[in-house]
Formats: sequence, C-alpha cells, structure tokens
Amino acid sequence: MSSTYGTLFKISTFGESHGPAIGVVIDGCPAGLVFDTDFIQNELDRRKPGQSRITTQRREADEFDVLSGVFEGKTQGTPIALVIRNTDQRSKDYGHIAEQFRPSHADYTYQTKYGSRDYRGGGRSSARETAARVAAGAVAKLLLAQQGVQIQAYVSQVGSLKLDKPYTELNLAQTEDNAVRCPDPETAEQMFQYIDETRKKGDSIGGIVDCVVTGVPVGWGEPVFDKLHAELGKAMLSINAVKGFEYGSGFAGVALFGSEHNDEFYTDEEGRVRTRTNKSGGIQGGISNGEAIYFRTAFKPVATIMQDQNSVDIHGQPATVSGKGRHDPCVVPRAVPIVEAMAALVLVDMYLRNKVAQL
Ligand SMILES: Cc1cc2nc3c(=O)[nH]c(=O)nc-3n(C[C@H](O)[C@H](O)[C@H](O)COP(=O)(O)O)c2cc1C
Repeated sequence: MSSTYGTLFKISTFGESHGPAIGVVIDGCPAGLVFDTDFIQNELDRRKPGQSRITTQRREADEFDVLSGVFEGKTQGTPIALVIRNTDQRSKDYGHIAEQFRPSHADYTYQTKYGSRDYRGGGRSSARETAARVAAGAVAKLLLAQQGVQIQAYVSQVGSLKLDKPYTELNLAQTEDNAVRCPDPETAEQMFQYIDETRKKGDSIGGIVDCVVTGVPVGWGEPVFDKLHAELGKAMLSINAVKGFEYGSGFAGVALFGSEHNDEFYTDEEGRVRTRTNKSGGIQGGISNGEAIYFRTAFKPVATIMQDQNSVDIHGQPATVSGKGRHDPCVVPRAVPIVEAMAALVLVDMYLRNKVAQL
C-alpha cells in the first residue's frame, strides 16, 4: 500500500485514525529553509476537527513533534519526520462496523483487497491521514513563499448553494473570517445554516472548493505524462471524498467556440507576455504560463450518516448499519487547507524539477 507522493520533494505519510499517531516523512526538502513552526501549527489548526458545530466533534489538538531534519530552526537537507499523536479516539463507536460495510465508505474494498482492515475510525481510509499532508504542505508552502507563490482556496458551493462570482471579484482575504471558509459573508451564513440543518437531520452534504495560485512563473510542469494540471488532478483526486476536478474553463468550456475560448496574448508595459483572459487556468501544454492557476475540486456528501442504512456484513448477509460516532456533516470547510496543501506539494515538486530541467 504505497503512501508516497512526489519526485524530488517526496512525502510518505503513516498512521491510522485510532492508532497512537499519524505523521509524515519529507525527503528532498532543500537545506537552509527557516522552519516556521507557528505557521505549520496554524495550517494544522485550520484542518483540525472540532472547529465549530458544523465539523466533527472529535477533539484533537493536532500539535506536532519534529523528530528529525531540523536543527537550530532550519532544515538540514535530511529527511524531516513530523509526528502528530492521536489523543481523542473512541474506538467503541466503530465496533458495529467491524463486521459490516458502511455504504459508499472504504470498508468493503479494503476488507476484500487486504483480507482485514483497521475499522476503528476508518483506520487508514480516514481523512485523519490528511493532517500529515497538511503538515508537509505547510513546509512546501514555506519554500514556495520564498519564490513569491501564494495559494488560496475557499468554499464556493455547499449542496446547491453556489457562490456565483469568479475569484477575481471576491475578497479572498475574508475566507478565514467564517467557519465555512467562504469569502462572501452572506453566502457563508446561508451555507452554515444549511450544513447545520443537514447535521440535525443526521445527514451529510457535498460541496466545492476553489483554489487560486498566484506568483508561479512560466515553465513549471512536465510536458507529457506529468503535466502540471495532471499532477494537480491526481493530487486533488487523492483526497478523501473527492469526486471531481476541473481547471481553467473546465467542463463549462465545452460550450464555447474557440474564438471565445482562446486567451489572447499581449505584451505588458514591463515587457512580459500576458493573456487578456485566463480560460487556460494558468496552464498551457501542461506548463505554467505565468497567469494565475485556478482549479475546482468537488467533494461528495460523506458516507457516514446518523441514520440506519441497508448494507451487507462480511459474510454477504443483509445488515443494517446504524449511524454512530463523530462525523463531518460536510467536509469542505476542513478541506480548504487540505486542497492548499496538496497544491503546494505538487508545485514545490515542479519547482525543484524545473530547476534541473535546463542546463
Ligand atoms: C476533511 C475530511 C473529513 C472527512 N470526514 C468524514 C467523516 O466524518 N465521516 C465519513 O464517513 N467520511 C469522512 N470523510 C471521507 C472519507 O474519508 C472517505 O469518503 C472514505 O475514505 C472513502 O473514500 P472515497 O469517498 O474517496 O471513496 C472525510 C473527508 C475529508 C476530506
């Protein structure tokens, strides 16, 4: 079961939801990077459970220990190992799914593929694993910030409640001002109420996270199989509960004619080649073109709901799975930092790969 991502900036995550700890080993981070622990902790705090009544009520401080790779506040070029201890497991809430499969969760496929599974809290299939990604992504963000790259994600849709403005018309600085992480306060309030009503009904609801990356120069991305958008797509689709990815004009672009869709080039006052529109989403031929990179990631309504559901047990016999445990009624508020972290991990790898791509 591989849990490694990256070519030059490589991460390997480990741990289960109800095991003693989760964590990550980062291999290939250059030496000399100031290791800003406050920044990394803040990123973990944005993802951690129990942030408001519309997230799971599991209580984890998600504080991390640095086991290796950092000396006198700077990275050493050696493997960086970060560990986050689990402190608030309630494994008895999962006893009933030891022998039953939750519809649309990973229980059936893990059991059938491996012959056994750690069912406590979903084990390795739990999104608790993404805390390790966020920790590694924070280190990647520190490296990218030195290159002037900024990554900002936000919630643009919950159920059928949509933010009908493009990122260029939003004040993204307001994203962290509310529990939903939607930059429009009025829409955020409606989304909050909707998620809360869904939670009270014992149900779950999906949503969309948009992400904008600025400051990426021309040239990041490999032209054939590891196209920048292909890697972003893989990274986003590797996040738990993700069902869709699109970048630039995405699926809506099919309704346009080429004459409407093409991004016209011009040269600005500083002599830089720019495009007047950005339907390409900042990527052409798999390589960044210097414009903002933007993409959208769709999350399903999570599988574990507080209702009885028809299913089968490990012997193939009919079973009723009852809703127990502490769960997210809608994951998108907590998914915002995860999307940013995965984008950072893709981009930092492409930054380093680009450095060795030319003589
Ligand atoms: C931030 C976050 C929190 C999640 N919380 C839950 C949860 O509380 N309950 C649940 O059933 N699934 C939750 N999930 C989704 C499951 O981890 C995921 O659906 C499961 O592993 C099956 O994988 P799949 O949906 O990608 O096929 C969460 C996902 C994310 C990104």
